[in-house]
Amino acid sequence: MKKLLTATLVIGLCSAFTAQVQATPEDDLKTFRTYYEKRFPNTPFNDFINGVYSIDPASREQWEEIEEFPPYELSLDNGKKLFNAPFANGKTYASCFENGGEGIANRYPFFDKASGKVITLEAAINACRESNGEKPLSYKKGAIADISAYMHYTSRGNIINVIVPDDPRAQAIYEEGKKIFFAKRGQLNMSCADCHVHNSGNKIRADLLSPAIGHTSHFPVYRSAWGELGTLHRRYDGCNKQVRAKPYKAQGPEYTALEYFEAHMSNGLEINGPGSRK
Ligand code: HEC
Repeated sequence: MKKLLTATLVIGLCSAFTAQVQATPEDDLKTFRTYYEKRFPNTPFNDFINGVYSIDPASREQWEEIEEFPPYELSLDNGKKLFNAPFANGKTYASCFENGGEGIANRYPFFDKASGKVITLEAAINACRESNGEKPLSYKKGAIADISAYMHYTSRGNIINVIVPDDPRAQAIYEEGKKIFFAKRGQLNMSCADCHVHNSGNKIRADLLSPAIGHTSHFPVYRSAWGELGTLHRRYDGCNKQVRAKPYKAQGPEYTALEYFEAHMSNGLEINGPGSRK
């Protein structure tokens, strides 16, 4: 019976996403939210920021204990130091961002009208460096993850508000991200949606699958599997490898579009990054 119920929901969600050819990002957001609220009626909406722990009381307790002495603390301190350290020209990161870079992560990624591109926070950090004559940092871990963690930390509690404006270039990037999210890939021929929508709450090997809603709220993440902090695009790599697909490039157009889609689907939830995960 449970299987049957799930199948009906799956068909419901797929057709909701595909039947409305003209579905706007706002329509998608409603469909997404309603789906997870029905699938996990015991999870209060804002708790979806906690990934699997929002749906699995058994592992939650252990995780809450870990968060009391968070393994990302040293990275966070380092991120703060780097964020405030002057470049060779005397300026700091604060000069590149609105509000000196504090409390703004909830609006990333955003569509930049001038360039016609979607800018993630990590891309903005590197753009800041380059405009100040510094070399860009590598994207998946290390200094960039630490700085991003600090910027997310100052944004904790702020509501994710990722806007897809009525501009055909922004819409196209959003649609690309959505397409990637639903596209089957790799030797296992599975999509992000197969695991994180249709099978969210089910187990794959030893792992319970998280709902995709809230996926972007708590990055960068310290994973015990990594033994360090990593960015969202590093996590995307891991999921691509799981289905034996070739990962895309961190901060390349595919993952940027995917992040734009996933972040928009997390609108209305709080930023709680950085976080810790298995
Ligand atoms: C074969 C199943 C599978 C597929 C397909 C898959 N993932 Fe995952 N993903 C996992 C597992 C297992 C985890 C770790 C448990 C969890 O948090 O869901 C995970 C974790 C994640 C996380 C971290 C969640 C958190 O709370 O920190 C993100 C983000 C994510 N996946 C995004 C994606 C995206 C985007 C795609 C498509 C490119 C994708 N995944 C495809 C299995 C999958």
